[in-house]
Amino acid sequence: MIGLLRTRAVGAGIERLDGRAKVTGAATYAYDQPVEHPAYVAPVLSAITRGRVVAVETGAAENVEGVLAVVTAATAVRTADIGDGELDVLQGDEIAFRGQLIGAVVAETPEAARQAAGLIEVAYEEWPHEVELREGGGGPPPIPDPGEDDVRGDVDGAFASAPFTIDATYTTPPEYNNPMEPLTTVAVWEGDGLTVYESTQSVHAVRETLAQLFGLDLERVRVMAPHVGGGFGSKGTVHAHLVLAVLAARAVPGRPVKLALTRRHMFALAGYRTPTLQRLRLAAGADGRITVIDHEAWEQSSRVKEFVEQCTTPVRNMYPAANRRLAQRMAALDVPVTSWMRAPGECPGMYALESAIDELAETCGIDPVEFRIRNDTAVDPDSGKPFSSRNLAACLREGARRFGWADRDPLPASRREGGWQVGVGVAGSIYPVIGFPGSAAVVRFGADGRYRVLIGAVDLGTGAWTALTQIAADALRVPVGRVDLHIGDSSLPWASVAGGSSGTTCWGTAIVEAAKAFRDQHGTDPAEGDEARGEVRENTAREQYAMHAFGAQFAEVRVNGTTGEVRVPRMLGVFAAGRIINARTARSQFIGGMSMGVSMALHEQGVRDPRFGHIVNQDFAEYHIAANADIGAIEAVWVDEEDPHVNPMGSKGIGEIGIVGAAAAIANAAYHATGVRVRDLPLTADRFV
Ligand code: MOS
Repeated sequence: MIGLLRTRAVGAGIERLDGRAKVTGAATYAYDQPVEHPAYVAPVLSAITRGRVVAVETGAAENVEGVLAVVTAATAVRTADIGDGELDVLQGDEIAFRGQLIGAVVAETPEAARQAAGLIEVAYEEWPHEVELREGGGGPPPIPDPGEDDVRGDVDGAFASAPFTIDATYTTPPEYNNPMEPLTTVAVWEGDGLTVYESTQSVHAVRETLAQLFGLDLERVRVMAPHVGGGFGSKGTVHAHLVLAVLAARAVPGRPVKLALTRRHMFALAGYRTPTLQRLRLAAGADGRITVIDHEAWEQSSRVKEFVEQCTTPVRNMYPAANRRLAQRMAALDVPVTSWMRAPGECPGMYALESAIDELAETCGIDPVEFRIRNDTAVDPDSGKPFSSRNLAACLREGARRFGWADRDPLPASRREGGWQVGVGVAGSIYPVIGFPGSAAVVRFGADGRYRVLIGAVDLGTGAWTALTQIAADALRVPVGRVDLHIGDSSLPWASVAGGSSGTTCWGTAIVEAAKAFRDQHGTDPAEGDEARGEVRENTAREQYAMHAFGAQFAEVRVNGTTGEVRVPRMLGVFAAGRIINARTARSQFIGGMSMGVSMALHEQGVRDPRFGHIVNQDFAEYHIAANADIGAIEAVWVDEEDPHVNPMGSKGIGEIGIVGAAAAIANAAYHATGVRVRDLPLTADRFV
């Protein structure tokens, strides 16, 4: 590990370097790319949940003026089987979920394409389906070999003899990723070369996947993502629409094609968070220390691709317990592919754990802030290694002070203001410091005296463009204004995904290494064209330390005594996430995550009709997300944290921890306000009246 940066630009809250382009409309997103004479793709989605396509009648569609091609499984080119069922697009006649892609229309205008897509008649053979997650996994058998349960100590014995216990089940509904910019693709074939503009969190992953699927040399594929309008994980893996767009482009030689999913399409094709059923049995001794953590999480996966939302993972590192059982259970259902959504695993897992901790603290008669501090640890309960830094207790104390926690009457339902019951709640947050290997950066000196920093990273809207420029400037010991960062293009050096809150750690490290190599090789007075490369090497400190960011979330909740309406007028998050690279964009990440947590707590819920297998509320009129009027005063602050072990910047990931624990803090506050413990999200009005 190389030494910490001498800090100049790092830490400053400088404005986003791409901000002006974005707010003035000058920023070109994937779909905006001005390609020559584009054609437009409208997808055709399966209208049944399980079965087989028997016949497709395309005549009426082909007769629509402006239609160039209709692509179905019968006409699409064959792609390679790369072991990812989600990406087997138009390769067979089987239907595994409602909304699966079964065809596409390519036309001169988006309108003609969409009209024609609606005229395609599909005859199906329907098979029985199962789309409901139930404890025990619903109808079909669970996925074989769900993995060994992780068991330590004597869980049942310790639970039976403990003075304080709780045994409760918490549920979360399916939640759907809906970044402002939906999934979009522009695909251009030139001979056997393929250029793609994709709204993605990883240009290199898209490139590698396309090369494999279409049997192309890597050099023949170029993927660009200059600006991205949010992702939250929906753009972190390759989804089926991309394959459809590339297949469609094959069908109209010489024409670039454009595809933008609609909001409705997003609910079937962008990945989403599985519903969860989580049973927690916790026990504590007379001293208020946790003795048992027994966590069983049920969730669903599609039949075409398994994805496990690691709900029990954060439980491993949060609080010590001598007796522990973690069980992750999967049911394979006839549903769309589950995937990443902001803090997959940590988000629903910590909702359940931090709700249960609140219940256990109350059972023990201990204040929930004090209870968490009492169960703090400097040693990772899972690995036995010390944490490289862990300031959960500092976050809890600082949050309690700022939030006015001392004024809280421990008795639930003790505060009324007008017609509202008022309460406050707390929850802990955690997120690992993820370090993917392999990212590389190049620093090149230009005739204009400026430094180009090249890395195939992506700014999905987080502020990476700005933070990486700050890191580069400090590493090169030059002002920010002399650095030009180049990202968003697979022809730039390989970089890992903008996911797992790992971007700054991985790409920043590569940039620091490249800057160091540049100075070593070329000194401080370089010549035009001088360049150097740096790569992320294995962080050997991981052998000695467990690395996580922590936080404490506080919420005030008001529940209307007549209508049951739930409001969150005030939230505070205090985070310990190492060195903050950019105070402005970091705050934006934290409060963005917390706002998404308000959404999760109060609104978000996909409703699937078990008879037909479709999402009933697949638009923003019916699938509610928090709007401005739902968000009160949200404040995010951080404690100073020096961590020399995580990376050269001393930073930890901040993109996801803001949502972790937020819903639990709100649910705990709603209980404190009303005395009604709702264990099923979202906290809709009907639960309280
Ligand atoms: Mo985030 S869900 O790792 O993109």
